[in-house]
Amino acid sequence: MRVAVYPGSFDPITKGHLDIINRASKLFDKVIVLVSINVVKSYVFSKEERVQMIRSCTTTLENVTVDTFSGLLADYVSQVDACAIVKGLRAVSDFEYEFQQALANKKLNAQAETVFLTTTAEHMFLSSSLVKQIAYFHGNISDFVPDEILQTVVLRLEQKSIENGG
Ligand code: PNS
Repeated sequence: MRVAVYPGSFDPITKGHLDIINRASKLFDKVIVLVSINVVKSYVFSKEERVQMIRSCTTTLENVTVDTFSGLLADYVSQVDACAIVKGLRAVSDFEYEFQQALANKKLNAQAETVFLTTTAEHMFLSSSLVKQIAYFHGNISDFVPDEILQTVVLRLEQKSIENGG
């Protein structure tokens, strides 16, 4: 069985992420969406909330599961005996960072092959940070996040904006 791990912060999952999950699910027997820790980020949604949001958007994808891990991605890949790490590549600007991550993961675990899927043109500019910024300032994010989580994201960012006097 060819298992792939799609790691990320997913704070929150966007339509761009979902597009990558959809396409990866056709390439591999099983895809594990892994909510992982990026030490340079602070998160708006808890790990459990992020997992729940991803689950609610992927219920129709039978070979997709969601998991969390607080350690090194390279170790998780060994634990689940995955053959690939899937990453989405949006633009040239992503490349240097992703290239570095791919090489580091390969160094830590020779089994950890990274497979890049280029994002579709309509998701090129999309990121979780952008979604949070727009929602924080009461903009319309319905084109950017899956319908299943729209309300959750809007309410949380609205609440954050109010807390900060916005
Ligand atoms: O969505 P993000 O924040 O760009 O995802 C980055 C993430 C979480 C995939 C990366 O930080 C990661 O793999 N974290 C797990 C810990 C780890 O293995 N770090 C070293 C990667 S070389």
